[in-house]
Amino acid sequence: ETVQSSFPIPENVFAETVVEVQHYTDRLFRFRITRPPSFRFRSGEFVMIGLPNAEKPVYRAYSIASPSWDEEVEFFSIKVENGPLTEHLQKIQPGDTVLMRKKPTGTLVLDALVPGKRLYMLSTGTGVAPFASLVRDPETFEKFEEVILVQTCRDVGELTYATELVDNLLDDPLIGEMAAGRLRLHATTTREHSERMGRATDLMKSGKLFEDLGVPKIDPAVDRAMICGSMDMLKDTKAILENFGLVEGANNAPATFVVERAFVG
Ligand code: A2P
Repeated sequence: ETVQSSFPIPENVFAETVVEVQHYTDRLFRFRITRPPSFRFRSGEFVMIGLPNAEKPVYRAYSIASPSWDEEVEFFSIKVENGPLTEHLQKIQPGDTVLMRKKPTGTLVLDALVPGKRLYMLSTGTGVAPFASLVRDPETFEKFEEVILVQTCRDVGELTYATELVDNLLDDPLIGEMAAGRLRLHATTTREHSERMGRATDLMKSGKLFEDLGVPKIDPAVDRAMICGSMDMLKDTKAILENFGLVEGANNAPATFVVERAFVG
């Protein structure tokens, strides 16, 4: 079965070629597409993507997982049964066409945070995608001394994307040296046994997350945070950060934490 069809490519969107697809679990996969030379974005932003399989393609917001210097564009996606986009998107193969709207946007950008020392990137599942972009951007390490990437998933297989990302990054000639000793991954599972278990939200409330990392609890004088996950996770995490004294910021009003509210379904 192919996801391609004879529908004309809509105007004012990029039609890009899939170059790589990697499936992690029956729920998660990653893919890379060619990057149009005129497509510019800030690491951490999202863009609308779709497939040329209908007269009016269905578009969904996808965080760009690759950094702004990358020659290709990477996405990390969930596979939703009967999901209008993802039931087809999960079948794409190299050579297929993916549609991408031209204007990226989003709040998980470095410019939306006031300067600080330590940056927490808090995610569940595919919420790690914008952080996959940001941890590969040298600017993140120019602005922050320490970066802590936090991801909670149901099972170990779902943590593979972030684990491989961080391993590869530390081996990378360009960014590896900058990130060495300054980027750490705190990964937990909730439904399968692993080294670290529990929701990051609970581990922040109990203080265990900070103990594990050997850092003081979140302090608005030095700590900054970005959040990306499900609606419930955003709400719970935001409340915890506000309890620690952090204040939500935006592109036009930088502050001490930011939240991304666009997500894939
Ligand atoms: P749990 O297994 O306890 O539901 P999903 O794949 O459903 O999006 O969930 C991804 C991860 O996010 C799971 O480990 C899940 O834990 C966790 N999670 C779900 N809701 C919340 C929440 N409100 N706060 C923090 N983590 C959450």
